[in-house]
Amino acid sequence: MKVAKSVTDIRDIVVDFKKELKTIALVPTMGNLHCGHLALVEAAKKAADRVVVSVFVNPMQFDRAEDLKSYPRTLENDLALLEKAGVDAVFTPTPEIMYPQGLNFQSYIEVPDLCNSLEGALRPGHFRGVATVVSKLFNIVQPDFACFGLKDYQQVALINEMVRDLNFQIKIIEVPIVRHEDGLAYSSRNNLLNQAERSIAPILNKSLKNLAEQLVNVKSTDKVNELVEQTCNILDKRS
Ligand code: PAF
Repeated sequence: MKVAKSVTDIRDIVVDFKKELKTIALVPTMGNLHCGHLALVEAAKKAADRVVVSVFVNPMQFDRAEDLKSYPRTLENDLALLEKAGVDAVFTPTPEIMYPQGLNFQSYIEVPDLCNSLEGALRPGHFRGVATVVSKLFNIVQPDFACFGLKDYQQVALINEMVRDLNFQIKIIEVPIVRHEDGLAYSSRNNLLNQAERSIAPILNKSLKNLAEQLVNVKSTDKVNELVEQTCNILDKRS
């Protein structure tokens, strides 16, 4: 497995893959890898001849400095997992390599409706940071495929839109959520939950699943509102 820190090095590796007429799948990550990421790698291996994984904690998508500081960084372990998973190359740039002029440069990618609604409304700048770094990674690695997890549903929707709007010649592969036995999704952030938080976290998934099952046979809007309100009350009480 090759490890490249600079843009030139990863480009040289990609040029060699392309000379051999190999197709390439990119798996963009922020590291601290778990089963969810390994499912992305598996999907990438199925789709393409060569798999490139990027490990980069992207400062542009963090709206709070303390969140960026506390984001788990476990590069050595990540590289061991990726090697074992049969990845061909890993790109591990620093913020200085990705943003040589700092974060105040002039070009951004924004998909306004998807960047600023739902989770985007609560995390200003987050999705603009995601869209910008993913388009930079696409330009650097020039993959044929790129894999994203459906855990981050809004992220997947905005990347699909960006690829369509900007004519990236990349097929986006959407990979199903990988969950713990109790239903909680594998996630680097979920690893940061304390014991009490971890024990109540699966209730969110269970309640939403329950709600979805109940809504299947409901015909009236009033009943829908009642059931949604009931679920919100249950979640409020448990949080
Ligand atoms: O989903 C993530 O880990 C990140 O948002 C991504 C796509 C790697 C961009 O930094």
